[in-house]
Amino acid sequence: MHQPVLVKEAVENLVTDGSRIIVDATVGTGGHARAILQKLKEEGKLIGIDRDQNALEIAKRNLAGYGNRILLGHLRFSQIKDFLSSQNIKEVSGFLFDLGMCSLQLDHPQRGFGFQSNGPIDMRMDPSQSKSAFEVINQYSFSELNKILFQYGQERFSKKIAKVIVKERNQKPISTTYQLRDLVASVIHPPFRIKSLARVFQAIRMEVNDELNELNRGLMEAIRLLEAGGRLCLISYHSLEHGLIRNTLRKESKGCICPPRFPVCACGAKASLRMITAKPIVPTTQEKEANPRSRSAKLWVAEKLKPSND
Ligand SMILES: C[S@@+](CC[C@H](N)C(=O)[O-])C[C@H]1O[C@@H](n2cnc3c(N)ncnc32)[C@H](O)[C@@H]1O
Repeated sequence: MHQPVLVKEAVENLVTDGSRIIVDATVGTGGHARAILQKLKEEGKLIGIDRDQNALEIAKRNLAGYGNRILLGHLRFSQIKDFLSSQNIKEVSGFLFDLGMCSLQLDHPQRGFGFQSNGPIDMRMDPSQSKSAFEVINQYSFSELNKILFQYGQERFSKKIAKVIVKERNQKPISTTYQLRDLVASVIHPPFRIKSLARVFQAIRMEVNDELNELNRGLMEAIRLLEAGGRLCLISYHSLEHGLIRNTLRKESKGCICPPRFPVCACGAKASLRMITAKPIVPTTQEKEANPRSRSAKLWVAEKLKPSND
């Protein structure tokens, strides 16, 4: 069962007007969604989105009691705008993004996400998508593999690992998580091994699911679709997600980017957001102890500004 992270903090900041529409863009199995629905008034509505149909089936069962106050959609962040316009929704009062994986994905070896148990090397959050980790590992060139391991995994032994992958697949395809684990272990020795394994699996997963591009597009769409006063809450789990969110929120809440020596603004950039907390909110010690998955979590909260007329 997935244990949702920073629930109280996220819902408190997200739902400021319980009679409006809130989008949970990562509904998963419905942990945050349930807490949001509990705070919404009768006339409030929740739209729950996920790219994983299996997660949505479970969310549907878990949230069945809320009837037509909830609408679920099987789609990616980059399709949110089209989905909302197909429902005649032009703006919403809140967006929640709880990034990363849900336990449903991680705990099932046949989804092929982890190196702790053996399964087909897959890693698709949406199993109906065509590209899986098998294609990435067996078809990407040495330099493409090296690049994703370095960029998405920040793995300093990326070349060594890409090289052993290419050498092995010339003999036979790499088709299981244990095959990949053993290859990494053959070139990376303790004490670096476990961290390297985590970074390699993270990098391949991010490539398979195009995670940073999806996040970037989802974030920009969400900012556009929020009504004035609407809230954006994002929970991120690793430095690449933290960095992308921090930079986007800073830029969107800054406005003019002209050099200070300019007497009047020449760039025309206007702030679209205001940060609600200067620093991201992190879990309490108790939450970190009770739910180890929450240890790296950061919650970012921003509010949409009224468009200015000047
Ligand atoms: C950490 S889980 C969310 C858990 C959820 N908050 C809960 O309480 O059960 C993240 C979910 O986001 C989904 N997801 C990740 N990237 C996505 C994307 N680009 N579009 C739609 N869903 C995505 C995953 O499939 C996963 O179910």
